[in-house]
Amino acid sequence: MLRRLIGQTDFCLILTLLPLLQGSKVLDPGEDTVYKEAKNNGLEILDPGEVVYRETRTNGVVEKGVILECGSVLPDVYIWGFTKPGTATIRAVAYNFGKGPKLQKLAKTLGELSIIQRSASISIAKLPLAAQGLYTCQALYDTAQGAKLYYYYIHLRVLVPVTRPYIVLSDSSPSEGRSMWMRCGLENGTGPVNYIWEHTTLYNTTRIMAQGNNSLVNVTLVSRNHTGWYRCLARNEVNQAQSERTWLDIIFGPDVPSIDVTPYSVTERGYSALERETVSLLCQASSNPPSQYIWFYNNSQVYMGPTFTITRILRMHTGHYACLAQNSYLNTRSKKTITLTVYYPPDGSPSCTVRPTNNYTDLTLWCSWEGGYPHASLHWSPVLPGANGQGYANATLTQRGPGTANNSVFECHGSHVALNESTSCSTRTWHPAGEPQCYAYATRNNEYLMFSCSWEGGFPRALLWWASSTGAIHGKSEENSNILILRSSATYSGKSFVCHAQHPLFSERKQCVLKLEAPVLVTQRSMVSVYEGSDVQLTCILKANYPATEITWYNNLKQHVVETPSKYVLQRAAAWSNLTVRETDGLRDSGQYWCSATNAVGGAEIPIHLLVKRYPMPPNVTINKIVYSTHQQTEVDIDWLIRTGGDITGFIIERRRVPTTEGKRDADPPWQKVAVNLDPSIRTYKMGGFDPAGLYAVRIMAVNHRTVGHPSEAKSPAMPPFNAYPAVIGAAIGGMIIAALITVLLFMYIVRNRNNNPRLHDMIFGIRNSQSRENINYPEDESVGGAEGDVSREEHGREEHGSPGPAMTSPRATVSPPDLPPRDDNEPVAVTITVMATS
Ligand SMILES: *[C@@H]1O[C@H](CO)[C@@H](O)[C@H](O)[C@H]1NC(C)=O
Ligand SMILES: *[C@@H]1O[C@H](CO)[C@@H](O)[C@H](O)[C@H]1NC(C)=O
Ligand SMILES: *[C@@H]1O[C@H](CO)[C@@H](O)[C@H](O)[C@H]1NC(C)=O
Ligand SMILES: *[C@@H]1O[C@H](CO)[C@@H](O)[C@H](O)[C@H]1NC(C)=O
Ligand SMILES: *[C@@H]1O[C@H](CO)[C@@H](O)[C@H](O)[C@H]1NC(C)=O
Ligand SMILES: *[C@@H]1O[C@H](CO)[C@@H](O)[C@H](O)[C@H]1NC(C)=O
Ligand SMILES: *[C@@H]1O[C@H](CO)[C@@H](O)[C@H](O)[C@H]1NC(C)=O
Ligand SMILES: *[C@@H]1O[C@H](CO)[C@@H](O)[C@H](O)[C@H]1NC(C)=O
Ligand SMILES: *[C@@H]1O[C@H](CO)[C@@H](O)[C@H](O)[C@H]1NC(C)=O
Repeated sequence: MLRRLIGQTDFCLILTLLPLLQGSKVLDPGEDTVYKEAKNNGLEILDPGEVVYRETRTNGVVEKGVILECGSVLPDVYIWGFTKPGTATIRAVAYNFGKGPKLQKLAKTLGELSIIQRSASISIAKLPLAAQGLYTCQALYDTAQGAKLYYYYIHLRVLVPVTRPYIVLSDSSPSEGRSMWMRCGLENGTGPVNYIWEHTTLYNTTRIMAQGNNSLVNVTLVSRNHTGWYRCLARNEVNQAQSERTWLDIIFGPDVPSIDVTPYSVTERGYSALERETVSLLCQASSNPPSQYIWFYNNSQVYMGPTFTITRILRMHTGHYACLAQNSYLNTRSKKTITLTVYYPPDGSPSCTVRPTNNYTDLTLWCSWEGGYPHASLHWSPVLPGANGQGYANATLTQRGPGTANNSVFECHGSHVALNESTSCSTRTWHPAGEPQCYAYATRNNEYLMFSCSWEGGFPRALLWWASSTGAIHGKSEENSNILILRSSATYSGKSFVCHAQHPLFSERKQCVLKLEAPVLVTQRSMVSVYEGSDVQLTCILKANYPATEITWYNNLKQHVVETPSKYVLQRAAAWSNLTVRETDGLRDSGQYWCSATNAVGGAEIPIHLLVKRYPMPPNVTINKIVYSTHQQTEVDIDWLIRTGGDITGFIIERRRVPTTEGKRDADPPWQKVAVNLDPSIRTYKMGGFDPAGLYAVRIMAVNHRTVGHPSEAKSPAMPPFNAYPAVIGAAIGGMIIAALITVLLFMYIVRNRNNNPRLHDMIFGIRNSQSRENINYPEDESVGGAEGDVSREEHGREEHGSPGPAMTSPRATVSPPDLPPRDDNEPVAVTITVMATS
C-alpha cells in the first residue's frame, strides 16, 4: 500500500517523505501485516525513524457534525487521506506542509468539511452517508530527537436515525382462527433496529406483544383477544421512533348464545315460570359484528331481537325456546335451546277421605290433589310422631285404627308453588251406631235361605262377613251390610251362622249369631169333639223355628183352609194359631185336620181329630088333619101327631103345588118352606097364601137342633065342611068389608111401594105427611114379608153362611111366626095384590 501511495505522482510531499518510510525495516511488503502489527501492539516505538500507528473508531450521525482528531498536538506536517469502504485506494482529503491547510476536491463529497484552527482535526458538519470510511492522518513531528512520523487511522461510521415506523397489516379485519402478520415498516435507520409491539386491548390495558429485531410478527391463530390498538416502536443506536396507533378488528362469532330468563328459576328440567307471570328471555352471543337474534318456540319462529318477552305466560307456553344468533358478515350462526316449563296449580282444592286398611284394623288417610305442574305438595295434620303424611299430588297416611278417637278430624293441607295460599280439606272418622244386626229369612217356597247382616253408619264403613259356627267363611265380605244366600237344606237345622263385623276404630270384632231351627208343633188337644152347629176352635202352637214361619191349616179333606174363608176363621199370633171351624156340620166337618209349619230347614205337621157329634133323629111326624079354613081356599089349618118320643126343637112345614097337567108330571115343583122353627110344643098351625085355583101337597118335619127328621107323608088340604052362617054374613056385609079392605090394602101397597111410585104416594098422603106414613108403615111391612115367606134381607145373609138345604137353617135365626091379626075370607085379595107388588 505504501508502494502504491508512493507511486502516486501528484502527491509530492509523500514522495518527499518516501525515503523515511522506505528506510523503515518494519515495513513489510504486505500492507495488512503492517496494520496488524501496529494495531496489535499499539506500542509507540521510541526508536527514531520508527513510524507510530494509532487507530481509533468513531461514529457520526448523518446530517450531524463530527470531529476527527489527528493527534493532540499540532503536527508540523500532516496529510488526511480517505479510503472509501470497499476500496483499497487511499485518497488525500487535505494536507498541511506548513503553509496552511489545503483541502482537496474529494473533501467536497464528504460534507461540509473543514480543518479546525490550530489543530490538524477535521470537522465535518452535515455528515453525508458518503463520509463513511477510513480516514488516515499521517503526521510528522519535528522533535529534538528527530522527526517523528505518526499514522492515525480513524474509522468513521455514519449512522442513520430511524424514521417514524408505520404498521402494515396483512389483513386489517381478519376472522378468528385465521393467521395473519403485522409488519413494522421503517424507511431509514441504521441497523440493527429493535422493534417493540405494543397492544392496547379494549379494556385499556397495554402490553408488549412482541420484541426483537424482526419487523414482522406472525399471528398463526387470530383470536378476538387480538382486537385492539397496535403501535410499533423501532429503535437503533441513534434514536427510537413509534408508529401511529393502528386498529385491528377481529371478526368472530357468534359464540354459543347465553340465555337469561327473568325471573330466574332453574330446576333440573330447565327453566320454570309461574303461570300468568311476565317472562323475559334475553339472548346474548358474542360476535363481531354484533349478532342478530331470532327466537323459536318448538321450532317455529316467534320473534326477532335479543329480548323475547311473554306477558302473562300460560301453561301451553311450556316447551323449547331456541335463540339463533347470526353473524351476517361471516354468515355464521349458533343456537342455544332452553326448556321452559310453566308451572300452574291444580284446579279446585284437595279432596280427602279415610279408608280402612290392614283388614279393617287400621285407617289410611287418603288425600289427592291431581293436576297442576309440578304436583302440589300435600301434608296431613295432625300426624302422630314418626309418621310421614306428606306427598305430591297424593298423600296417604296410615293411622292405627283402635287408637283413634271417635269423631277424630284430620286435615290435609295442599300448597303449590303457583299459589299464594294453601288450601285444605278435612275428613272425619266415627263409629257405626250400635251393634251389628242380623236375621235370616227364606225366599218364597223356602227355596233359598237368606242371611242379612247390617251395621250401618260409621266412617269408614264396617266390614261384615258370614261364617258358620265352625268358622268356615261363607260368601264374600261386604261393607255396611251383607246378605248371604244359601240353598235351603235340612242339614242346617240346629246349625249357627255368625255375622262377623270389623271396624277400624274397634280393636275387637263384633258378631251377631243366628241359630237355625226346624219348626216344632204342639197342640193342647189332638182330639176335639163338638155338637154340630156350634163353632169349634183347633189350636196349634209353634215351639221352635228359625227362620220364622207360619202355621198353615188343612181341613179334613186336606184342603188349605184359607180357600174357604166363610167356613174357617184363622187367628194367629207369633207362636200359636187357632182355627175356628164355623157352624160345624156333623156330616161334613168331622175328620182329621192338619196344622203344618215349614221353614227353610225343615217342616212339621200334626193331626188334630175333630168329631162333630150329631143330635139324635127327631121322631117321625104324621099329619093328622089338613083342611082349608074357608071355602075360599086361601088358608089351611093343619094339625099333626108324634107317635114316638124324642128330642124336638121345632117343626118345619113345607108345601108344593101339585101339577094338574099330565105332561109336566116328571118335574115336580120344589118344596117351599111355609113355616120353620115352629115351637116344639104346638101341634097345630094355620097357613095362608094358597091359590084357590091350585092343588097343594103339604108335609111336616120335626127338628132336633140341626137334625131334621123324616118328612111326614105329604097330604093335600081337604075342603072344610059347609057352614051357612059365615056365608050369609059374608053375603050381607061382604061388599062393605071388601071395599074397606081394598082401601086398606091399597094404602099398604102405596106405602110399601112409595119409593117405586112416589107420585102415587104423594098424591094420597101428601109430601109432608110422614107421621101417618110411619104409623101405618112398620108393623104391617115386616109381618107381611114374614107371613108370605118372602126371603127377607136378613134371611138371605144367613143362607149364605149356612149350608143350603132345609136342615141348615141357622140356629140363631129365629123367624117368628106371623104376628098378624086373624084374617078373614078377604085374604085372597091381599094375596093378589102382594103378588102384583112383588112381580
Ligand atoms: C432516507 O435516506 C435517503 C437516502 O439517504 C434519503 O433520500 C431520504 O430522504 C431519507 N428519508 C428520510 C425520511 O429521512
Ligand atoms: C380507554 O381509554 C380511553 C382514553 O383514555 C377512554 O376514552 C376509554 O373510555 C377507555 N376505555 C375503557 C374501557 O376504560
Ligand atoms: C412468518 O411467516 C412467514 C410465512 O408464513 C415466514 O416466512 C416468516 O419467517 C415468519 N416470521 C416469523 C417471525 O415467524
Ligand atoms: C382471551 O382472553 C381471555 C382473558 O384474558 C382468555 O380467558 C381467553 O382464553 C383468551 N382467548 C383466546 C382465544 O385466547
Ligand atoms: C312444545 O313442545 C313441548 C315439548 O315437546 C310440548 O309439551 C308442547 O305441547 C309443545 N307446544 C306446542 C304448542 O306444540
Ligand atoms: C284378613 O282377614 C281375613 C278374615 O279374617 C283373613 O282371612 C285374612 O287372612 C286377613 N288378611 C290379612 C292380610 O291379614
Ligand atoms: C261416635 O260418633 C258418632 C257420630 O257423632 C255418634 O253417633 C256415636 O254415637 C259415637 N259413638 C260413640 C261410641 O261415642
Ligand atoms: C186360641 O186357642 C187357645 C187354646 O184353645 C186359647 O187359649 C186362646 O185364647 C185362643 N185364642 C184366641 C184369640 O181365641
Ligand atoms: C119313620 O119314617 C121313615 C120313612 O118314612 C121310616 O123309614 C121309619 O121306619 C119311620 N120310623 C118309625 C119309628 O116309624
